[in-house]
Amino acid sequence: MVAAAGVAGGAWHRSRRSCRMIGDVVELLACPHCRGELELRDGVVTCAEGHAYDVARHGYVNLLPGGGGSGTADTAAMVAARSEALATTGPLAPLVRHVADHAAAVTPPVDGCVLDLGAGTGAHLARVLDALPNRRGLALDLSKHAARRAARAHVRLGAVVCDAWARLPVRDGVAALALSVFAPRNAAELARVLAPQGELLVVTPTHRHLSRLVAALGLVRVDARKDERLAHALAGHFVRIDDHTHGYDVPMDDDDIAAVVTMGPSAHHLGREALARRIAALDGPQTVSVDVRLSRYRSRA
Ligand SMILES: C[S@@+](CC[C@H](N)C(=O)[O-])C[C@H]1O[C@@H](n2cnc3c(N)ncnc32)[C@H](O)[C@@H]1O
Ligand SMILES: [Zn+2]
Repeated sequence: MVAAAGVAGGAWHRSRRSCRMIGDVVELLACPHCRGELELRDGVVTCAEGHAYDVARHGYVNLLPGGGGSGTADTAAMVAARSEALATTGPLAPLVRHVADHAAAVTPPVDGCVLDLGAGTGAHLARVLDALPNRRGLALDLSKHAARRAARAHVRLGAVVCDAWARLPVRDGVAALALSVFAPRNAAELARVLAPQGELLVVTPTHRHLSRLVAALGLVRVDARKDERLAHALAGHFVRIDDHTHGYDVPMDDDDIAAVVTMGPSAHHLGREALARRIAALDGPQTVSVDVRLSRYRSRA
């Protein structure tokens, strides 16, 4: 038996609540070692070969074979900042609403869950599930801190720690809609887990996104060729159906600015103190543009 990859969980009676959602989505998952079907027994997710994964006390299951991933998982501080920025009172709340409304509206009328790859806190997926009362959600992320939040984000959502660049621990064709919001995109795997007629919705920042802060605080810039690279990466597996941009200007105070910067890629480069100094040097609250592109794709298969 392979050692359990998850955070050590308690016995079934102690972890009944945390197991509930994994129990509801376990049939959508596949063993990362042998690709076999998984089931939940006594608080442990297992396959017929005996590979076993504890459900963490916080309600997610870790399906990373070997425990390591190939990306940069968000840290606890990044996840906490993301949670603030995406909250209903946060500066990105209108973005969450727009993405969720659009995702719910375009979800094709085929059987399947909504899968969010690089789901972070699960904020987007939770709002999509609010709008789609008959769907279940799968939140996949490399970060345990993110998975812990996502596991609590919605009653119909199961959270899984895994690596987007490896084979996803998800069965073929189980998703009606796959979401990728500011997250890594593994085109072959996204195509595999989508149901026939299923769709992929990709949300990426445009060059206007947070541009005032990028200039004033010296943040990581959006790659000018991002759209081109996205098209190239998806071209072999997906056809674009449509896309549109969505943007708005929002006043941000120091706390809002600290949250949107700390949750993003600049957090990996800029220390907390350097960021605080740069924010303090700004002349008060700033009006900042939030601006994204939403692109819909259908699998070529
Ligand atoms: C910019 S955040 C976006 C999170 C969420 N989609 C949102 O918009 O709030 C990118 C997310 O991708 C996750 N991530 C990075 N590398 C990954 C990988 N190789 N596999 C899965 N998730 C990964 C990070 O942990 C983080 O939660
Ligand atoms: Zn197995």
